[in-house]
Amino acid sequence: MTFATPSLAPTTLSAKGLLLRPFRESDEPAVAEALRDADILRWATGSATVRAPVPERAAVWLGLRMAGWATGDAWFAITDEATGEFHGALGVREVNRLPDQAVVGYWVTPRSRGRGAARTALDTAAGWALAAPGDGGLGVHRISLDHARSNVASCRVAAAAGFRLEGVMRDFVKEPSGRRHDAHLHARLATDHPE
Ligand SMILES: CC(C)(COP(=O)(O)OP(=O)(O)OC[C@H]1O[C@@H](n2cnc3c(N)ncnc32)[C@H](O)[C@@H]1OP(=O)(O)O)[C@@H](O)C(=O)NCCC(=O)NCCS
Repeated sequence: MTFATPSLAPTTLSAKGLLLRPFRESDEPAVAEALRDADILRWATGSATVRAPVPERAAVWLGLRMAGWATGDAWFAITDEATGEFHGALGVREVNRLPDQAVVGYWVTPRSRGRGAARTALDTAAGWALAAPGDGGLGVHRISLDHARSNVASCRVAAAAGFRLEGVMRDFVKEPSGRRHDAHLHARLATDHPE
């Protein structure tokens, strides 16, 4: 069975001093530096990137993310609105692969961590995706995310952005090393009210 994947209009969002914008080829050096971080590689890059030779990883990663908007994956560079400094990446993926749903993933560069970048980016992107098309959003009803149970930082980010914990998925995450982890499933609905 095949699913229709919508083409998404490249979009820019801003909140609390952050600018979330589509990736550009000129982001490659910043992405290459980020992909040297063990935790980003371990939890957040995907197998196509990890399988690529190290000198080609950033180009492989970036090419897939820039092309994603055409096939239902909205990938944003998280940047400083005033200086343009690159802080990380966030993808609202698989939009409408299941009706009215999307999946989100994110990472922040080591030097930008601990300043609320992930929480703000996740809350902002979720608000956009869950908003009605008439209000400039994607109109999805449910956005989910998962993280290895041991990834406490990601769990805190999810909760802080209103993604409620729904349960545990056994052996859901497989690290590039082959090690498997149980994962938390979190989701935020368009009808959720802040807790
Ligand atoms: C997880 C990650 C995205 C967090 O980014 P960040 O910008 O530092 O997170 P924030 O500053 O927005 O923090 C949000 C919350 O998480 C908490 N948090 C962040 N890092 C934490 C850590 N290492 N340990 C415990 N709590 C942490 C913050 O204290 C804050 O909690 P609060 O709302 O109760 O104050 C970042 O560490 C990262 O990129 N890690 C590697 C890749 C990864 O794991 N991606 C997620 C894959 S599921």
